[in-house]
Amino acid sequence: MENSDVLKYALDEFFDYTLYSRMASSERNPKNRKLLSELARQEYEHYLFWSRFTGPLKLGLRDSIRVELLLAASRVLGRVFIVKYLERREEAVSEAYRRLAGDPRFSEKDRATLDKIAKDEETHEKELSSQVDEFAVRHLGSMALGMSDAMIEMAGVLAGFLGYTESPFHTGVAGLIVGVSASMSMTAASFLQAKHEAGKTPGSTALTTGLFYLSTVGLLTSPFLIGLPMLTALTLSVSLALAVLAAFTFYSSTILGGKFLREYLENVLVIAAVVVAGFVFGNIVKELIDLTLISHT
Ligand SMILES: [Fe+2]
Ligand SMILES: [Fe+2]
Repeated sequence: MENSDVLKYALDEFFDYTLYSRMASSERNPKNRKLLSELARQEYEHYLFWSRFTGPLKLGLRDSIRVELLLAASRVLGRVFIVKYLERREEAVSEAYRRLAGDPRFSEKDRATLDKIAKDEETHEKELSSQVDEFAVRHLGSMALGMSDAMIEMAGVLAGFLGYTESPFHTGVAGLIVGVSASMSMTAASFLQAKHEAGKTPGSTALTTGLFYLSTVGLLTSPFLIGLPMLTALTLSVSLALAVLAAFTFYSSTILGGKFLREYLENVLVIAAVVVAGFVFGNIVKELIDLTLISHT
């Protein structure tokens, strides 16, 4: 075990303690505040263990800036996301702690403490952060529903119209018209569904679904509406969809503890299948209409 490792462990624990206690002090919900304070207390205990070897520590400028940035991010992305994101990184740390717990250079008592710290990092903290009650976590399903449904709908409509018309603007307008009315029906459906599910607030659930639906529609149709050539608009729209999907999948898999890459590929495959189906269908309709026009003339 290197001295630099000990210093790194001590600093990491102190960093987490500082961040979590700052989060706790700005939290208004009493239950969440208690959970965050408990997390901070655990990290402080871990820090106390390491600081016996390093002496008391203070955060450097870089780490203090990181704390402020993460606090600001937690206001937008939620505290649960930030805590889980940081704890995910700690899996390697807890493995190292477990190895150290077998190191004969530590006293028996220290090794038992190290074992307990490793356990804290693995389970306790995950459990604590999962209990934090937050809008973003409660509405994760509604966000996913609004976004993925809009993507599938838009991909289908845009690809379908691409086979039918060669004008990017008309394709965009068609997408917007279908998207806006579909978002209304989706909002209503989400409201009715939430009314029948225990523990859900129909108003905020429906609004979240609708807003995510509408923003996705706006984002994916905008490349067509701003007058870009067809191929550029299509490429940009698909890239935007892939990027938004990646960001959202990362967000939800961090909170729910899933595997990012697997979930992302799954989502992309489903949407790609719909794009292909929509394009083929649009082409078939175009052929059929061309045929009828020809036979009528
Ligand atoms: Fe810790
Ligand atoms: Fe931790």
